[in-house]
Amino acid sequence: MGDGEVLELGSAALAPRSAPRHVALIMDGNGRWAEARGLPRFEGHRRGVEALRKTVRAAIEFGVDYLTVYSFSVENWSRPPEEVRSLLALLHRFIRNDLAELQANNVRVKVIGARADLTTDIAALLREAEEITAENTGLTLVVAFNYGARQEIAAAARSLAEDVAAGLLRPSDIDPAAIASRLDTAGIPDPDLIIRTSGEQRLSNFMLWQAAYAEFLFVPVNWPDFDRAAFEAAIADYAHRDRRFGGLEAVGRKAKTAS
Ligand code: FPP
Repeated sequence: MGDGEVLELGSAALAPRSAPRHVALIMDGNGRWAEARGLPRFEGHRRGVEALRKTVRAAIEFGVDYLTVYSFSVENWSRPPEEVRSLLALLHRFIRNDLAELQANNVRVKVIGARADLTTDIAALLREAEEITAENTGLTLVVAFNYGARQEIAAAARSLAEDVAAGLLRPSDIDPAAIASRLDTAGIPDPDLIIRTSGEQRLSNFMLWQAAYAEFLFVPVNWPDFDRAAFEAAIADYAHRDRRFGGLEAVGRKAKTAS
């Protein structure tokens, strides 16, 4: 395959190169970071936004095309109301304060997650961030907000079922590409690398469908301590992985010699 050629695999278009095209982040450990310092949990989230800001800048510098961040899960509503309020306030402030910088850096914002049950002000804010940056051609920052992968897959199944019931689709038309086309991430390549901070090693209802062939990296630092150097190390680690997508040969790198 020549440079720039794209290999189509299922729903994913995979560029043959060693840098991850799409990095997804589970930003975990804000609470533990704060508790270890005798600070309120809110302070951990506030410092988490600073880490996010630095990570977005580093993603641009490293030439990552898509950066997905798990900022609020459908399960996070079960936290104490004051913590939920502080997370919503931080999202609000992040979009209000950082949108100009994102726009200046040609970043396109895309939000995934259920919109229907959001208050109108949050929904309008997210829509505004998407609309203002829609024509940008640099990094795509995918903000997973009120996101749950099982809910996303269920919604895709429901949408396909409605089309079958209306006679627009046959059951035999439902294949992986059809399902992928109804997910919130339709049109976004699958993540190449999923990083979770804080040492926990699980997906917690994040991108379950899209993660089919992702590489995983679990780093022992809490999210507020994740920085440019940690991101660079993660990308270097990824560059040494052999990705075979179920085949025998590594994709995007030379296959290892026989062993
Ligand atoms: C996990 O830490 C982190 C979250 C639930 C939220 C992540 C949110 C941010 C970094 C800031 C808000 C996002 C945006 C886009 C402005 P945790 O609280 O579960 O930590 P713990 O497991 O140590 O308690």
